[in-house]
Amino acid sequence: MLQLECLLRLALLLCVSFGFLLHPAVTAVIPLGSKLSVVDNNCWVSTNGDFAFGFFNITDEPNQFSVGIRFNSKSIPYSQQTLVWIAGGHVKVSNVSYFQLTPQGELVLFDSLHGVTAWTSGTGNGSVVSAALHDNGNLVLIDAKQKVIWQSFDNPSDTLLPGQRLSVSKYLRASSKDLETSYYSLYLNASGRLQLRWESNIVYWTSESHSSTANLTASITSDGSFQLQDQHSKAVWSVFGEDHNDSVSYRFLRLDLDGNLRLYSWMEDSQSWRSVWQAVDNQCKVFATCGERGVCVFNASGSAECRCPFKTIETNKCLVPNKQDCASGTEMKVYKNIYLYGIYPPDDSIVMSSLQQCEQLCQNDSQCTVATFSNIGSPQCSIKKTKYITGYEDPSLTSISFVRSCADPFAVNLSFTMSPPSEPSPHRLCVSCLVGAASGTFFIVGFVQLGIVFFICRRKSSTMRRVTLAFTFPNSKGLMVLSFAEIKSVTGDLKNQVGPNMFKGVLPSNRVIAIKDLNASIDERKFRSAVLKIGNIHHKNLMKLEGYCCEFNHRYLVYEYPKNGSLDKYLDDCTLCKKLTWRKRVEICSSVAKAICYLHSGCREFISHGNLKCENVMLDENSVAKVSEYGFAIVNGEATYCGFSAEKDVADFGKLVLTLLTGCRDHEQVCEWAYKEWLEERATNVVDKRIDGCANSDELERALRIAFWCVQSDERKRPSMEEVVRVLDGTLNVDPPPPPFHLAFDPQENGSESEIESVV
Ligand SMILES: *[C@@H]1O[C@H](CO)[C@@H](O)[C@H](O)[C@H]1NC(C)=O
Ligand SMILES: *[C@@H]1O[C@H](CO)[C@@H](O)[C@H](O)[C@H]1NC(C)=O
Ligand SMILES: *[C@@H]1O[C@H](CO)[C@@H](O)[C@H](O)[C@H]1NC(C)=O
Ligand SMILES: *[C@@H]1O[C@H](CO)[C@@H](O)[C@H](O)[C@H]1NC(C)=O
Ligand SMILES: *[C@@H]1O[C@H](CO)[C@@H](O)[C@H](O)[C@H]1NC(C)=O
Ligand SMILES: *[C@@H]1O[C@H](CO)[C@@H](O)[C@H](O)[C@H]1NC(C)=O
Ligand SMILES: *[C@@H]1O[C@H](CO)[C@@H](O)[C@H](O)[C@H]1NC(C)=O
Ligand SMILES: *[C@@H]1O[C@H](CO)[C@@H](O)[C@H](O)[C@H]1NC(C)=O
Ligand SMILES: *[C@@H]1O[C@H](CO)[C@@H](O)[C@H](O)[C@H]1NC(C)=O
Repeated sequence: MLQLECLLRLALLLCVSFGFLLHPAVTAVIPLGSKLSVVDNNCWVSTNGDFAFGFFNITDEPNQFSVGIRFNSKSIPYSQQTLVWIAGGHVKVSNVSYFQLTPQGELVLFDSLHGVTAWTSGTGNGSVVSAALHDNGNLVLIDAKQKVIWQSFDNPSDTLLPGQRLSVSKYLRASSKDLETSYYSLYLNASGRLQLRWESNIVYWTSESHSSTANLTASITSDGSFQLQDQHSKAVWSVFGEDHNDSVSYRFLRLDLDGNLRLYSWMEDSQSWRSVWQAVDNQCKVFATCGERGVCVFNASGSAECRCPFKTIETNKCLVPNKQDCASGTEMKVYKNIYLYGIYPPDDSIVMSSLQQCEQLCQNDSQCTVATFSNIGSPQCSIKKTKYITGYEDPSLTSISFVRSCADPFAVNLSFTMSPPSEPSPHRLCVSCLVGAASGTFFIVGFVQLGIVFFICRRKSSTMRRVTLAFTFPNSKGLMVLSFAEIKSVTGDLKNQVGPNMFKGVLPSNRVIAIKDLNASIDERKFRSAVLKIGNIHHKNLMKLEGYCCEFNHRYLVYEYPKNGSLDKYLDDCTLCKKLTWRKRVEICSSVAKAICYLHSGCREFISHGNLKCENVMLDENSVAKVSEYGFAIVNGEATYCGFSAEKDVADFGKLVLTLLTGCRDHEQVCEWAYKEWLEERATNVVDKRIDGCANSDELERALRIAFWCVQSDERKRPSMEEVVRVLDGTLNVDPPPPPFHLAFDPQENGSESEIESVV
């Protein structure tokens, strides 16, 4: 009975994916001599029907075929039946080709049109007795003792399936049009670290370090994580997809064409693959992701796009102009907030120089095509002598690039952020702006609306599910949606205040949460979309948003509970403030800097905090700082979404540092006084007298210098948060800052800036 059923099932498993001609060979065993060809359009299918092996059209090119394995499940529509393995990586053959398991036990791809063997498995010494396409998508060749002689799982192309292992010195390679172009690979190196590489030499992502290095393999698990395991199958490093532990029928890990490594899950509801984890959060930080197609930038809907700010001289390529093509000489064009780098060759020469010198250096050197000025602690100019240039643009970037361009009076202005460096920077993209649209022309509003609609549509199905799950599964990874009545009930009528406008609450499951009253009127739709976006942000120094309430005029945010409350409480209370030792304060500065840096440049798009202050810095049970209320800028009780910038956050951060160091909350006065003390080499005077023990003088100098740079009244002098983080970490030197405000005294008389010795 059972056997009969199996036979029926086998007979019904048709080779659906390969279209119209149905000649499936559904057998557990593929005997020697079995043959597939393009004209027969036949294939081998795994017994469970999930995978099929056969020929397929790889590109739009007519009459070009590859052979390999793809998803074949009936629950996945044809267009979504993704390829998981290609013989020879990227080998293409003509329409008169065949694939055979030869009588000698070798897999051979033969192109009859050109009379060549395009690929073989190299197993033709007679030991192979049969092949099989396993239910997990592995094509194996076995000998008479059932020993595996060869398997596709050991020779991956760009994809890893559950059950497949990537061992040391093996790699995944992103598919590319041809073998000559540059390629991305995922490589497991001899010290057991995963690396994403561009060509063979540029590493742009590595897995975090771990203790074990012996015989590691990388694999994905069916519950949705990507791991490195030791020889006892114990995970020594893992990352988790957003839907980890959810029941998902199909998953795979793929190194995509854009150079990012992503974990995908099959979504039954939307009948599509969804990326649930990616290695490089910010797509624009993938080396050469835009290659010769220009500069990477996030568009209004938060997708990375390649745009060409330069004049194109060759179709499909975004090369910087060739100076020979310029009829009326060349000039340097200025591009703000853009970092450019060379890709062929990838190394640029770097010199220390000022902004003006940087431009001149390039202008005076006829070989120089592009120069990028950036001030990462010390002012740097990187000079590129190649026309193969790429880069990224981001409102939070302080880099300024100069491109040698034709001084042709009739040249079309293709620039999108071209402006002289002294002008205020153009419109900034941030979550706030996305949901706000308070400013701007009709065009911008339309653009933004598009973004919202796109976003809402994309999120709709999962949000709906989350709403119903809210109370029944408070641990589910979605956002809880609470009614105002529920807010009152879990907080005991908003009685237990743990910070400004923040209340402690207990869910029916006994889990403790913090509820922040935004105390502001924010349009419901804007609030919801902002909340959904912010709910996706994860950083160890950002308070995790767990839910929200949006009912009538009530706007509440539900966060994980910070056991030790807000920072202002510690500074205002004489006994509590003793707990803030010098070490703790330095740690808090560094944690907050990392959190804001992440908001500015670690997410898929720029997010401003807008309202950074002690009241919004929380301490968890280990007194680790966690920033709250990010993405919602509240001024005078009115939530304003636009006009908040990286520079404002940087200045707010500077004030926060001064507050923490001095213990004095009136930063306007403190700053001027502290600067004077520092200038006159009495820095230790500014340290909060309530701290037991001494401040580390090196850390103090570093923290003060960077704080004074942050609060410069001239916004352009303020550093980026990335630089701030590096200075606080001690990996970057910082010059003595000029007076942040217009001082009543002239610093030149008290000792000129250049006389102050750098202590770091
Ligand atoms: C391959 O592509 C061509 C056109 O691009 C199409 O006519 C043909 O049916 C495809 N063949 C298969 C096997 O999908
Ligand atoms: C194979 O491709 C050639 C062109 O390369 C074309 O002329 C021929 O008709 C194709 N044959 C089949 C069977 O599709
Ligand atoms: C045949 O070749 C395979 C792969 O090269 C090798 O693993 C196997 O030991 C060989 N078997 C014999 C009988 O030579
Ligand atoms: C492996 O990669 C890590 C991180 O990129 C690197 O530090 C280490 O030196 C590499 N090991 C070898 C043996 O190349
Ligand atoms: C790694 O595996 C090989 C073969 O499986 C074994 O000989 C070797 O001892 C292992 N190395 C370690 C450090 O366990
Ligand atoms: C998945 O489930 C395991 C065991 O129940 C648990 O330890 C783990 O934290 C869960 N992962 C996530 C991301 O919820
Ligand atoms: C942003 O880019 C994505 C991917 O290229 C595209 O689908 C989307 O329409 C773009 N959105 C806007 C507003 O340009
Ligand atoms: C560039 O050339 C100009 C004029 O020849 C000169 O004045 C200037 O100092 C040069 N700048 C640099 C940085 O070499
Ligand atoms: C290009 O931009 C420059 C500076 O903004 C401007 O002076 C010039 O007139 C523009 N040219 C054209 C053709 O629009």
